[in-house]
Amino acid sequence: MGQRSRSSRAPQRRLVLNRERELAQLRYALDGALCGRGQVVLAAGEAGIGKTTLAQEFAATAARRGVRVLWGRCGDREGSPPYWPWAEILRTLAEAESAEEMRALFEPGARYIGLVLPELRGRFHVERSSIPDDHSVRFHVADAIRSLFHRAARQRSLLLVLDDLHWADQGSLFLLEFLAQDIAVHPLLVLATYRDGEGAPPLVEMLGELARLGVPRISLTGLTVEGAGCLLARLTGRRLATRVVRQIHARTGGNPFFVTEMATVDIRDPRAIPVNVRMAISKRLDRLSALANRVLTVAAVVGREFDFPLLRAALSDVDEEALLRAVDEGLKTLVIEPLPSRGAEWYQFTHALIRDAVYESISPSRFARIRRGERTSTSCLTKVRTVSARVIGAITTGWSRSNANTIRETCFG
Ligand SMILES: Nc1ncnc2c1ncn2[C@@H]1O[C@H](COP(=O)(O)OP(=O)(O)O)[C@@H](O)[C@H]1O
Ligand SMILES: [Mg+2]
Repeated sequence: MGQRSRSSRAPQRRLVLNRERELAQLRYALDGALCGRGQVVLAAGEAGIGKTTLAQEFAATAARRGVRVLWGRCGDREGSPPYWPWAEILRTLAEAESAEEMRALFEPGARYIGLVLPELRGRFHVERSSIPDDHSVRFHVADAIRSLFHRAARQRSLLLVLDDLHWADQGSLFLLEFLAQDIAVHPLLVLATYRDGEGAPPLVEMLGELARLGVPRISLTGLTVEGAGCLLARLTGRRLATRVVRQIHARTGGNPFFVTEMATVDIRDPRAIPVNVRMAISKRLDRLSALANRVLTVAAVVGREFDFPLLRAALSDVDEEALLRAVDEGLKTLVIEPLPSRGAEWYQFTHALIRDAVYESISPSRFARIRRGERTSTSCLTKVRTVSARVIGAITTGWSRSNANTIRETCFG
């Protein structure tokens, strides 16, 4: 059936550090699936944390054990047709089969499967007009595709990888939920990845349903200092001083994408922000409201750590409820996180790099306005003065030293 889809192939394997526990958990799930006790497993984490890499590594293991692995990636492009990741999976499956096997797998339910994979309609002579145009269609589609996977898994165990579920359309999410309901009695494993903090309401709702069904979730965190050191050594071809590795680890939180990108700049420069990291962060911030961005700008001037009363004072023109909502936005999207070790209303940027990127993007004019905002609030200024040593320190490390004096003057008059 046509040419084998390039994008449906699993990409090449890469270096995988610090993921022994996660891979063991996935192998355990695979053992169960191979004995007919399938399940859905979720892998979540921020952009660049290594979700796709983990899935690739695990998919390679599964393939070595004779499992048929099919990939579906959700696209972030506008105009991705509904069910896009499932279409990728189905197309790869159809192309891998002989004509006879393909018919046995796809003909039952072709009427509805053809809505996801249009090329089937011609092959099985399905008239578009024979399909009801109401809410029940989603159920029929999900039911037909689920049955197809059950048939395919009976021939050979199946691993379906759904990557970047945060971009999935509602129909795709519904199909995953549908599949999860009775997967436990089939030799079928689904690994679905998504970005924490980026899901639209339909994803959040579906995740709630999956949690109710007992679907396990692997939460990916950054590499250890040793892991980051190892990755940097591999990228730069030399072992870096422990002090430098620690510094990079502290700035990146061990996020392997950030660490990888740090190898593209002068590694000894404690203020360097790689272009790709800057772009990734700016993309993340673009999704926040204008007020949330304003709040983060003020926070970034304070430093990586800041408290709500200080924001409140510095943004005295903003209604408190709106300010609280802006902070919630930052929390929900994982741009900031609570810092209970400092106090009840303390927060910090989840990565020093995010704070640095926000800070660097502040124009001199914006600085002047932040200063004006602070001046209108004496209490804020007093407070700022009491933490001035810390603030100046943060400013000095976040902005080139040549600008530090100007900033000091600008902020503290
Ligand atoms: N465990 C790891 N060990 C080494 N490098 C990793 C690891 N996880 C990810 N990477 C590297 O980090 C970058 C981002 O990983 P990726 O899997 O694409 O992240 P995500 O899918 O979460 O956005 C890639 O260059 C990848 O090779
Ligand atoms: Mg990915």
